[in-house]
Amino acid sequence: MHLPLAFLALGLAILVPSSFSSPSSTIHTSTHVIHEKRAADPFGWFISHKPSVSKILPLRIGLTQQNLDKISDMLMAVSHPDSPDYGKQWTPEKVVDTFAPKRESVHKVVEWLREFGFEKEKIKMSANKGWVEVTATVEEVEELLKTEYHVYKHSETGEEQISCETYSVPVDIREHIDLIKPTVHFNHRPSPKSTTKFKRAGVNLGKPGVSTVGPKKSPDASPVPPSLANCDKMITLDCLKALYNVPEFNPVSTDTNSFGITEFTPQAFLAGDLDLFFSNFSPSLVGVRPKTVLIDGAVVQTTNQSFDFNGESDLDLEYGMALVNPQTITLLQTGDLVEGAGFDNWLDAVDGSFCTFEGGDDPTQDGIYPDPLPGGFKGPESCGIIAPPFVVSTSYGQDESTITAFSAMRQCTEYGKLGLMGTTILYSSGDNGVAGNGGVCLNARGQPVANGSMFNPDFPATCPFVTAAGATQVNPGSTVFDPEGACEQVIFSGGGFSNIFAVPDYQQTAVASFLTNHPPPYTSAQFNNSGTSRAFPDLAANGANYVIGIDGEFELVFGTSCSSPVLGSFITMVNDARIAAGKSSVGFINPAIYSDRFKDAFNDITMGTNQGCNTVGFTATEGWDPVTGVGTPNVTKLIPLFLSLP
Ligand SMILES: *[C@@H]1O[C@H](CO)[C@@H](O)[C@H](O)[C@H]1NC(C)=O
Ligand SMILES: *[C@@H]1O[C@H](CO)[C@@H](O)[C@H](O)[C@H]1NC(C)=O
Ligand SMILES: *[C@@H]1O[C@H](CO)[C@@H](O)[C@H](O)[C@H]1NC(C)=O
Ligand SMILES: *[C@@H]1O[C@H](CO)[C@@H](O)[C@H](O)[C@H]1NC(C)=O
Repeated sequence: MHLPLAFLALGLAILVPSSFSSPSSTIHTSTHVIHEKRAADPFGWFISHKPSVSKILPLRIGLTQQNLDKISDMLMAVSHPDSPDYGKQWTPEKVVDTFAPKRESVHKVVEWLREFGFEKEKIKMSANKGWVEVTATVEEVEELLKTEYHVYKHSETGEEQISCETYSVPVDIREHIDLIKPTVHFNHRPSPKSTTKFKRAGVNLGKPGVSTVGPKKSPDASPVPPSLANCDKMITLDCLKALYNVPEFNPVSTDTNSFGITEFTPQAFLAGDLDLFFSNFSPSLVGVRPKTVLIDGAVVQTTNQSFDFNGESDLDLEYGMALVNPQTITLLQTGDLVEGAGFDNWLDAVDGSFCTFEGGDDPTQDGIYPDPLPGGFKGPESCGIIAPPFVVSTSYGQDESTITAFSAMRQCTEYGKLGLMGTTILYSSGDNGVAGNGGVCLNARGQPVANGSMFNPDFPATCPFVTAAGATQVNPGSTVFDPEGACEQVIFSGGGFSNIFAVPDYQQTAVASFLTNHPPPYTSAQFNNSGTSRAFPDLAANGANYVIGIDGEFELVFGTSCSSPVLGSFITMVNDARIAAGKSSVGFINPAIYSDRFKDAFNDITMGTNQGCNTVGFTATEGWDPVTGVGTPNVTKLIPLFLSLP
């Protein structure tokens, strides 16, 4: 039933209980202030037409949470190596209690909606009291938020979505509202296609790992073992173990320990590919599969088979499983075949507090379930179905410029909460150097344009509560015993400075030192060079020439997609040792890896750049840099260091 607006005021008088005084509704409508505004329409989208006024919008109002200004300090307390509370991680209940919105916020927002004329039955509270939801027509929302909706169409894909450029809320309500959806936010589902590049090897790789070239000489002139002779041309498990001084892994805490790898449907692994890889490189794993958790109607589909559908999953699982064998890996397969999913969907599934207490998904960024489309998942939404793994590696990302600050911050604080509970969140830093997906850069107003010259950083890598993984390479002609350089083959390590997030405490000295001692030859028109914005990546691992089993053959792949699961495997080894010693998982690792105490556990990368936006990008140099972070780990050194912490 959709009453014309003219009748709403009348309806109000009948429906609203006497406790709500009607005059205040006039006050509300007359004092709207702009709450969020989009700088410009995203790249490739244009206004197509006006939506029907009676179209239903599932309006969701995210309420302001308490204590978010303190989350950074709270996280430092449990994760800084010098903190007396290191490792004293929080229970989900404590997280919920600390950040829940004030009752007053719930009350004010509901009151505002009732005064506007929404019937009680149409207003719902999410179970967590984090979001207020109301089913409203376009016409109603346009009046409520003093805005105008349009249907936008993508010039290439023809995809459509509804959005507005700006919206307003009553001035006295504003402090209680974090963000409202669907409004100015555009839908950018995470895509693995741009984070894993693929090179069909010119030659048949045959049996990779078996040298076809004579052994090289290492710096001390002893011959390089055959299995390590070609690591500059193809990376195998042996290459990684040598590069990062990985000790023999004989885990003792496999029942307690956990390592999650996220994949977004329709991206999926093929069992045959895993076995092809394992039979060559890790025979005891043949026939072994990850522990698959299907989130929001997910399927590990096998209908479509090609690099685009299998590359990311095959890569992540082959290397992750083989490196931590016999530790089981949890595959967080997310989203159904119709809608796919966004980052918040996996957050929901691993963190009950996120959906139950925090307020659920972001309708424009994430698949919303139940999915009304034919073949779509009919629900219920997967919420808090597994405990958060101690490490989660996600090799997907989106340009930071395509998400609003409110939306990015809301998601980022969720990673912070997982850190408080003891989870390490790894994201790949992007494969386009200082540019965004597809090599796109920004204009002076921060909009993605074809010829932009402003750098375009990657999200969630820019969230200060995640650990962003950049990529290195064994330089051509070098061996694993030589220093690596930043990856400059096929892909360039994503790195730079956020346009949304401020520099976190743990990184301030490193960033200031880089900008002072190695000032990049760019102006503030190209990146935020003030030293006050969050910089990334945090650390790095090899991202070039990985041999993977894919669609029945061996191929070479490139990307920060490689680095993230490899680093996740190393942190999983650290956690095994700590759990065996009766200690907590390491959780958020950034304050530790930037500290002087951990300096020796990283190989500083001082060669290579991350080109993009018609520049050479930043240059890897002594100390932290926005190409390879603090460098690559020496795992044999890293484990005892983390073990020495409380
Ligand atoms: C790791 O550290 C050990 C101990 O200092 C050192 O001997 C080794 O060369 C390092 N390995 C790598 C690959 O950096
Ligand atoms: C995936 O497979 C389905 C069913 O065979 C087909 O209709 C669809 O076009 C395929 N998608 C792609 C992108 O190849
Ligand atoms: C970028 O391209 C637009 C449209 O093609 C053009 O109007 C503008 O002048 C260009 N800007 C620069 C800096 O080249
Ligand atoms: C640089 O980043 C800081 C912190 O986010 C912000 O306050 C400042 O306005 C930014 N400077 C520019 C020129 O955008």
